[in-house]
Amino acid sequence: MSFSVHNVGCVSGGEAFLLLVDSGKTALIDSGFLFTAKGTVKKISDILGDRPLDYILLTHSHYDHVSGSVAVKKRWPDAKVVSAEHAADVFNKPNAVKTMMKLNRAAAIAFRKSPFFMGNLKGLHTDIRVKEGDIIDLGTMRFKVLESPGHTWDTIAFWCEEERFLIANETLGVFASAEDIAPACLVSCKRTLDFIHRVKELDPDKILMPHYDVVYGDDCRKTTFMAERDTEKMRDIILENYDNGKTEEEIKQIVKDIIWVGPMRKGQPEAAFDLNNKYVVPTIIKEYRSSK
Ligand SMILES: [Fe+2]
Repeated sequence: MSFSVHNVGCVSGGEAFLLLVDSGKTALIDSGFLFTAKGTVKKISDILGDRPLDYILLTHSHYDHVSGSVAVKKRWPDAKVVSAEHAADVFNKPNAVKTMMKLNRAAAIAFRKSPFFMGNLKGLHTDIRVKEGDIIDLGTMRFKVLESPGHTWDTIAFWCEEERFLIANETLGVFASAEDIAPACLVSCKRTLDFIHRVKELDPDKILMPHYDVVYGDDCRKTTFMAERDTEKMRDIILENYDNGKTEEEIKQIVKDIIWVGPMRKGQPEAAFDLNNKYVVPTIIKEYRSSK
């Protein structure tokens, strides 16, 4: 294998991954929260030593993935921040940045850290806006950008054919346990399933899973199988109950009672499940029953 991946995040939920390629090229994948940024910069620095950081690849515009990029960019100004076009536009919207600051403060407090010293998002931006098929060249590894809307409209993945290595994102879902994936199709379930099917066809040998780490070999197949199974399961529960006349609020509770149990209950905090559910339920009803 011609690369290594290091989790340089500081808390669960604020993961960031440093990719070192044997060509000497380096990339950070996502960047965690604002309050963990200093710690992440230190971890990257300890691993890189004198090596430069070439890229900061942002899989989508959510605050827990992009906020640390400001401090990382300050420390390595030559690193190019890469995101989808729409994510770059989000960073230019004062109201969106305000919301990200609010969420960052709440995250700091939830982890019992003071939000006073966490800094701000001034300078949050994208250097390279990418779209489907664009290439990020890391010397011996070339990554093709795969647009993968479903979690957000600006979610992207990166595929290295030579290594059969997929840098995935939350459209594939997030591990809730070794046996469950928590679907995160906030904006489109159909597009989410399209991406899962695409990943199945690519048949990766390594997948960097968001908020987790790299899975290898047969575990890649197991992961895509679980992603498809659990997304379809959630969709079917929602539609069945909608067709039986249940309200959105009732359906949210039913989904929670059926899905947020067992290992998933241990693996995913209640607030995170509720927040996901708040978007997923109306998204699926609208997508599959819009004529009603
Ligand atoms: Fe996200």
